[in-house]
Amino acid sequence: MLVLGIESTCDETACAVVRDGCEILSNVIASQMDLHQMYGGVVPELACRRHVDVIIPTLKESLAEAQRQLAEIDLIAVARGPGLVGALLIGLNAAKALSLALAKPLIGVNHIEAHLYASLMSTEEPVTFPCLGVVLSGGHTAMVLIHNLGDYALVGETVDDAIGEAFDKVARLLHLRYPGGPEIERLAQSGDAWRYPFKGGRVKDKPFDFSFSGLKTAVLYTIQAGNFCPADIAASFQRAALQDVVSKTLTAASHYGCQSIVFGGGVTANQTLRTLFAKAAPALRTLWPPLRLTLDNAAMIAGLAYHAYQRRGADPLTLDVQTRLPLPVQRHPR
Ligand code: KG4
Ligand code: ZN
Repeated sequence: MLVLGIESTCDETACAVVRDGCEILSNVIASQMDLHQMYGGVVPELACRRHVDVIIPTLKESLAEAQRQLAEIDLIAVARGPGLVGALLIGLNAAKALSLALAKPLIGVNHIEAHLYASLMSTEEPVTFPCLGVVLSGGHTAMVLIHNLGDYALVGETVDDAIGEAFDKVARLLHLRYPGGPEIERLAQSGDAWRYPFKGGRVKDKPFDFSFSGLKTAVLYTIQAGNFCPADIAASFQRAALQDVVSKTLTAASHYGCQSIVFGGGVTANQTLRTLFAKAAPALRTLWPPLRLTLDNAAMIAGLAYHAYQRRGADPLTLDVQTRLPLPVQRHPR
């Protein structure tokens, strides 16, 4: 089955053609980084306008790269949330138009679930469920128990900033470019990670919840006090944020008896994070997305949609976007 995937939840316009849930025939991403860089973050109105401009060329490029015609596509898949409402609407309406014009089924999937699927679609070895899923992106930070594809239980989430958002905000304080994650990681390489005693936040009675706003404020105060070393700030902040993730993840994996951890989201591009896990838990199986599937992309949307379609069939053309969309739970008792 050939699935065309469309992704437009935030600031990347992406289209991909994927066969049978895992074989990527094309994965085209039109990044808007240049557009938002001067503002230090995503400007929703600009993002929407750019999605409108580039969605058709991106679609055409993805078909050309896959060497397929539109008529050969069996299913049109789109990320229907969570994300920015205007941005989501562009992708959803493009998907609806294609579905109607080609008389092909339409299906909407969850962007966060797709980030986790990016790791699952990239492994040959089967994964034993339940396993722990860890989403670390610019908009979301959460841990979930993955009972199966399409069946999740929330373990913990951030009560304030997402981890990627914290990287972006600290980068802005240091006058680094957007997106801040890669810039902080690069600057941290020449810094002393223990120079400043930053710590990730704890949430009372919720050992698996995250809080990054206090950490961000601690960085702000250190900068305001003057006479600081930017590289040491970057390294100390990154150490604090990543260690917090490592320790909460390992505690949750042991609490729920999970042998495998599946990672997803833009922050998992961070090599220091991957190294920290390899050192802290060499016996656990960790599944990371390959770099081309780490940031927002449509291959993960098309791949996940293949399985969602087998399980629950198509969505109606009345399908709507959802700016907040919880991960799916199976209604039937297991
Ligand atoms: O998953 P993603 O592309 O978009 C959302 O769904 O939010 O994640 C983007 C986030 C940004 O906040 C960016 O700064 C962060 O991922 N990021 C990183 C790295 N590369 C991207 N954070 C830390 N280290 C990196 N190397
Ligand atoms: Zn994302």
